[in-house]
Amino acid sequence: MELDHIVPWGRSFAEYKAMFQLSEADLQKTILGCGDGPAAFNYQLNKLGGTVQSVDPIYQFSRLELKHRIDAIYDEVLAQVAAHKNNFVWDTIKSVTELGQIRMQAMNDFLADYDKGKQQGRYITGSLPVLDFSDQQFDLVLCSHFLFLYSDHFSLQQHIDSIVELCRVGKQVRIYPLLSLDNQLSPHLEQVRQTLKQQHIHTELQTVAYQFQQGATQMLVAYSS
Ligand SMILES: C[S@@+](CC[C@H](N)C(=O)[O-])C[C@H]1O[C@@H](n2cnc3c(N)ncnc32)[C@H](O)[C@@H]1O
Repeated sequence: MELDHIVPWGRSFAEYKAMFQLSEADLQKTILGCGDGPAAFNYQLNKLGGTVQSVDPIYQFSRLELKHRIDAIYDEVLAQVAAHKNNFVWDTIKSVTELGQIRMQAMNDFLADYDKGKQQGRYITGSLPVLDFSDQQFDLVLCSHFLFLYSDHFSLQQHIDSIVELCRVGKQVRIYPLLSLDNQLSPHLEQVRQTLKQQHIHTELQTVAYQFQQGATQMLVAYSS
């Protein structure tokens, strides 16, 4: 992974709560965020006393490297959103400017927490489809804006292997969104669910009270049955 090729972009704790329908009881659980990147979920949950680890390949980079990369791509990402404004729902977040403020606040919170979090083992370098955690180490595994979203870049088999791996390390897995970058339901979703069923992994779709990408109203819940 080369720094010049990554586009670090992170969501807030409030967005994670809404995307994954996290209850107060869920937040007491042992949680893994897979592909958390520069999101503020780990920072905020740790501050609230929760037990959380994040795994992502970008944690191989230093705080300064990630900060420089965030600064380098920030205007371009917002320009892309502005150019495709109709692909998003602007009811909670009202404008591109507000979106930029929310995302930058989240990424700044992440950056401020990053070195301490790394020392505490909360930010761990790793990549699906193979993770260096024990079987059923986590009560809950969350995967936001990686699986299904990048269906063009991550194959069907990589999706299957990744979700099997997430169900190995966690008792329950939640994945959001289920749309790919073109705002269509991921072409992998049905085949993934059928294959997981054969491997005794139960999956169900749940509607969530969050929508920013137009039409992204459901998460996948998966667990070994
Ligand atoms: C669009 S970002 C989402 C960040 C965060 N989850 C959020 O919702 O704000 C996608 C993240 O997936 C990570 N990623 C890419 N390949 C991965 C892999 N093979 N395993 C785990 N994470 C990966 C990227 O480094 C990036 O941080």
